[in-house]
Amino acid sequence: MQPSPATLKIADQDISLPIIVGSEGEKAIDTRKLRADTGYICYDQGYGNTGSCESAITYLDGDNGILRHRGYPIDQLAAHSNFVETAYLIVYGQLPKPQQRKEFGQRMRENAAIETQMHRLFEGFPKNAPPMAMLSSLVSALPAFHPQLATNNFEQDLQNFDLTAAMLISKVRTLGAMIYRYQKGLPFIFPKDIPFADNFLHMMFSEPYQDYAGIPEVTRALNLLLLLHADHEQNCSTSTVRMVGSSAANLFTSVAAGINALSGPLHGGANAAVMQMLQSIHDEGDDGTRFIAAARSGSKSNRLMGFGHAVYRNFDPRAKIIGKACEEVLTKLGIQDPLLKIAQNLERAALQDEYFVSRKLYPNVDFYSGIIMRALGIPTNLFTVMFAIGRTPGWIANWHEVASNPKGRIYRPRQIYVGPVMRDYIPMEQR
Ligand code: CMC
Repeated sequence: MQPSPATLKIADQDISLPIIVGSEGEKAIDTRKLRADTGYICYDQGYGNTGSCESAITYLDGDNGILRHRGYPIDQLAAHSNFVETAYLIVYGQLPKPQQRKEFGQRMRENAAIETQMHRLFEGFPKNAPPMAMLSSLVSALPAFHPQLATNNFEQDLQNFDLTAAMLISKVRTLGAMIYRYQKGLPFIFPKDIPFADNFLHMMFSEPYQDYAGIPEVTRALNLLLLLHADHEQNCSTSTVRMVGSSAANLFTSVAAGINALSGPLHGGANAAVMQMLQSIHDEGDDGTRFIAAARSGSKSNRLMGFGHAVYRNFDPRAKIIGKACEEVLTKLGIQDPLLKIAQNLERAALQDEYFVSRKLYPNVDFYSGIIMRALGIPTNLFTVMFAIGRTPGWIANWHEVASNPKGRIYRPRQIYVGPVMRDYIPMEQR
């Protein structure tokens, strides 16, 4: 049953505002006509209370620590699916049937290699260029090599969506491995006709004279890591992809914008910041007390990295899965990483600390992901690139929702202007 509208009283005017209810019972007041009817806009700095779209991709209940993709709980996907299947689910809305899964994998394998001319773009980068700057530049360059897939016309770009989506997921992964090789001064390794995660490990760690010997536990851990990052509702980078996409910008360009948004330390960059924090605790021989004390100051530059979340006010369900997997992977690989102990101690201490408890600050997905990546041989400066590889299906699905919405409009928030009121220009000699 449709709930009765809300009533907003402004001065003497009663404004009736429709209520929208989502499929999980989330309620919103529809203010789309508010400005036209009253001259007022909604002020919501940082959009924390703004529903910017209707979306059928991911359901997130931050109060209860729930995350579901297309209805499927994240813990079930983590236990039974792998990254490519979950990517299909996120992009297409259904778990793939065998033939669909086969075709999706085939499209990815056929489009995994990076064009030779693009190899030359690498040479323009300094060896120590930030990997996310390289990744976003290289993804920005993809339309130049595939103009037929990047027409900046929704209808045409949607006609080629199956190819573009598979190509982008595949190529972002290949570019990630190439960035690693380039920075190490190693020759690029071409993709092979093998599964997605194995292919990534091959492109990272094979040598021209010797193929990387796969380790099933490593492949499984990598699949889990990517799967857990595959989508996360209207976060900073995904909202960026939607905003850029709403201008009818093609999928590659929109995702490149998302990569830039992800690079910030409060978003995707947090995984590397967590490792730096754990390493410095280790180097100082501290038990983390100093970091916790500094984090209590409330200053943004002293935050306990890997803790807190803009939406979760309870455990991040991904952090629970990844924390457990982290211990298992390290045990299976026979690795004793002192940073794991430090992270566990830090978590225990923070969860008993009044500052963190009262603010409902729990570990997020980034708290343990770095330790797994380190165990897989991935250097810290590539962590956010790994996040980007994982998040690509989510960005693609969100772009598709924008591009295929017949009632879609360009994203264009308003503002409250607080600058100087109108004043006359002053000639230079009178200033
Ligand atoms: N350490 C110390 N204090 C914190 C932290 C933290 N990690 N996170 C939040 N707070 C404080 C914050 O200062 C505020 O204090 P007060 O009420 O006294 O002003 C209070 O907790 C509530 O903050 P909030 O409103 O929950 O935080 P937010 O929504 O502005 O920011 C966040 C969310 C994720 C940016 C923030 O928690 C943070 O900076 N965490 C560390 C960075 C991090 O791990 N980011 C990864 C996020 S998960 C991966 C992703 O999706 O990108």
